[in-house]
Amino acid sequence: MNTSRPAAPLDVLLCVTGSIAAYKAVELTRLLVKAHQSVEVLLTRSAGRFVGAETFAALTGNRPWTDMFGGQGNEPHIALAARARSLLIAPATADVLARLASGRADELLSATALSYRGPIFVAPAMHPAMWAHPATQANVQLLRDRGVTFLGPVEGEVASGEHGVGRMMEPAQIAAALTSREGDLAGRRVVVSAGPTVEDIDPVRYIGNRSTGKMGFALARRAAERGADVELVAGPSVLPTPHQVRRSDVRSALEMLTTLQEQLKRGADALIMSAAVGDFRPAQPLTEKLKRAGPLSLELVENPDVLATLATHEWPRRPVFVGFAVETGADDAIIARARDKLTRKGVDLVVANRSDEAFAAETNRVHLVGRSETVSLPVMNKLEVADSILDWLVLTLGERSGVGQRG
Ligand code: CTP
Repeated sequence: MNTSRPAAPLDVLLCVTGSIAAYKAVELTRLLVKAHQSVEVLLTRSAGRFVGAETFAALTGNRPWTDMFGGQGNEPHIALAARARSLLIAPATADVLARLASGRADELLSATALSYRGPIFVAPAMHPAMWAHPATQANVQLLRDRGVTFLGPVEGEVASGEHGVGRMMEPAQIAAALTSREGDLAGRRVVVSAGPTVEDIDPVRYIGNRSTGKMGFALARRAAERGADVELVAGPSVLPTPHQVRRSDVRSALEMLTTLQEQLKRGADALIMSAAVGDFRPAQPLTEKLKRAGPLSLELVENPDVLATLATHEWPRRPVFVGFAVETGADDAIIARARDKLTRKGVDLVVANRSDEAFAAETNRVHLVGRSETVSLPVMNKLEVADSILDWLVLTLGERSGVGQRG
């Protein structure tokens, strides 16, 4: 039935699973279509027992996807994963969360999710006892750590008439969460630096640091998903390049400086400097491997401050500059030092965090220290932190061009 469908991009692939809340997916579909989203629906076998395919076909103009095999094209999971700009599972049962967490691929929904590299939103709906079970909570944590965004569940009355956390978030809220940040960075060019820099001592040894690049890669990914044209300048990192992001790999602080200079010369709306740039490099890197010969002292010279160099340069159209400050100590002291960095480096925002909460972790807790205000955020996964920084950027760019208001 879907074989003749053109392979057009798809805003939302709405996957409906077998919960009594499946009837609310009808209203959700209507709201997404009303918000000018192109929507196609994927029904699991048990969802089909709660709500009919005809209803979704009438609302979206396309018959829902139901099967891996049998008339809906070859490898429908691969085709759907390639076309969808976001994947929304609403309602999501405890079973589908377990399937996603364990990487199953024996039916269309889990196979599609496993093939998919874009943003996944999940709106769970289940009995409060099932939601609270350690097995479900462990699956939720695993999925959050992998970047899945959870919309609810909320507290209230569930199908059995009992009260608790397990009710699906209201369709209007889900639709708003999905569409509010959509395309808000379209037409913007954002340069993101990420990862550590490393300074070679000899052909086999180097001085590096503990940064993994997770925060910067999350920023690049979300900026691209929100419509920006994104350049990622990365120090050595094993992380995969996010979808639709251009990447340049560098090693040293000096290479990072020249690569970023080239990027900014081409014009950029923002530089987000999340790289952990090394402050020192060996005065004379050796071309031959250093041999053991008693104690060794290594002479180090200072690297330039990449961010301060770029932020104090006269650009024809000055980008918005965002720096990071990795600090130790109490929150007040962290914020005070970040404020000092803000003025010293001439930047517009400093994202301050603690080294023990930032490096190599999936989550982070940051303070956004701006020229006129500081916002302290709760612990969030790095994609959510990225979204909060980008929300600030959208407002700031809007203010500069005289549109949009803060607050
Ligand atoms: N930074 C930079 N070039 C450097 C050092 C840091 O561009 N040589 C940038 C980082 O990318 C980050 C910000 O400056 O955005 C702050 O980095 P941080 O290491 O916290 O600060 P430092 O400037 O090194 O100050 P200090 O080590 O004294 O706290």
